[in-house]
Amino acid sequence: METTFDAQEVNARLRAHLETWLTPDTHFDLYSRFHRDGFVKVRDIVPDTIRAAIHADVLDLLEKNAERRDLLLATTGHTPRFMSVVRSELIAEQSPLINAVYLSAPLLAALARIAGEELFACPQADEEFLITSQNRKGDTHGWHWGDFSFALIWIIDAPPLDIGGMLQCVPHTVWNKSAPRIHQYLCDNPISTYGFVLGDLYLLRTDTTLHRTVPLTEDARRVILNMTWASAKDLRSGPDGNDRWWEDGTVGAASTVRD
Ligand SMILES: [Fe+2]
Repeated sequence: METTFDAQEVNARLRAHLETWLTPDTHFDLYSRFHRDGFVKVRDIVPDTIRAAIHADVLDLLEKNAERRDLLLATTGHTPRFMSVVRSELIAEQSPLINAVYLSAPLLAALARIAGEELFACPQADEEFLITSQNRKGDTHGWHWGDFSFALIWIIDAPPLDIGGMLQCVPHTVWNKSAPRIHQYLCDNPISTYGFVLGDLYLLRTDTTLHRTVPLTEDARRVILNMTWASAKDLRSGPDGNDRWWEDGTVGAASTVRD
């Protein structure tokens, strides 16, 4: 795939940008929000040149590799996954740029300062990256947690707020795959809702933040790129459950709908 920058150029641009972006005051603000909310917008963590190049790669990958998923997942209380995806391995194979950003030491250092702990490349090759595209009325990524602790989400396309696609979060919650108790969490906790515009980025504490996207009320396009990293704790435990639906829509925990 044609990309604008090689890994060396990506690192040079990110290093120069992040040296001036993450001031002590910005760090204090982002660190505090992230630990309070499990979520923080970091739109300006990358320069516009990198953002534009990533967007171009994602849209190209989507056009060539999209696979539809329409299923309910048992390990999250049968919440829906109605969307198209591009699987991690295909992204890794076809976009040197996305790989370079994912492995960029200056970016990982900035994310680690916001998170307050080190981020590690994901030990599961099928979970480093995911592109999702919601484009039909009713499309949603239902309530869930992540197997690994950190996700940086790039908003590649976003519908107007009236149509949906916002992120909703319940931080400081725990995923028990055999008893997810999602409705109990929703009854017992406030739910925060975040809207986005094209070009936004956010960092999410995915292992302890129950989250979903609001279903689209009409046909419209919502596209994201997800980059996932592990915490030291994740590397010690490893994931469980036959529920890797993005890799295979027929996994044990999935039941297919909308045939
Ligand atoms: Fe998620």
